[in-house]
Amino acid sequence: MKKVRTAVLVSGGGTNLQAILDAERAGKINSAEVALVVADREGAYAIQRAEARGVKTAVLNFKELGRETFESSLTALLDENGIELIVLAGFMRILSAAFTSRYEGRILNIHPSLIPSFCGAGYYGLKVHEAALNYGVKVTGATVHFVNEVPDGGRIVAQKAVYIRPDDTPESLQRRVMEEAEWIIFPEAIESVAEDIRRLK
Ligand code: GAR
Repeated sequence: MKKVRTAVLVSGGGTNLQAILDAERAGKINSAEVALVVADREGAYAIQRAEARGVKTAVLNFKELGRETFESSLTALLDENGIELIVLAGFMRILSAAFTSRYEGRILNIHPSLIPSFCGAGYYGLKVHEAALNYGVKVTGATVHFVNEVPDGGRIVAQKAVYIRPDDTPESLQRRVMEEAEWIIFPEAIESVAEDIRRLK
């Protein structure tokens, strides 16, 4: 049976993209194939990671295009490439309700905390870990969830906890949450959701 054609949306370094590509190469992701990687800005290192694996890439400059044109161009690109599943891997933009409803049950995001803590508009990247440390929680982690019109509000697919150490900085915590949680649960969740989509085809 054909694999689920998947697009990965990125904004930055792309370590989650790398974990996904590595899982695909290792056969841990079997039901999905990364067919397209789209960045929302020029110079995102994630694009180089995709190119190194021979994956088709595109850049749609969000700042230049504005959200409406960004989303209409993205929709056209996804259609042209027959994309069935969209994965937000360190994608730092909030998508409109018009966009998310068009792809209901077909967009996955990874967030670097245990939702519903430290999530929603304004919580992204290092800010999430700064907030966790400022609050003084002793456990944080990562969450994979479906994307709907509420930022970080869609149904949870997977979570993994990570213990905070007394000497953690936002940077050290970010790294450990990636290593111990994100890079593990994201490929697993993608495989599981793609398996379900494939079964329904
Ligand atoms: C990751 O920690 C990801 O969970 C987070 O940004 C980082 C991207 O790293 N995403 C968000 O905060 C989304 N709200 P990466 O580019 O190396 O995968």
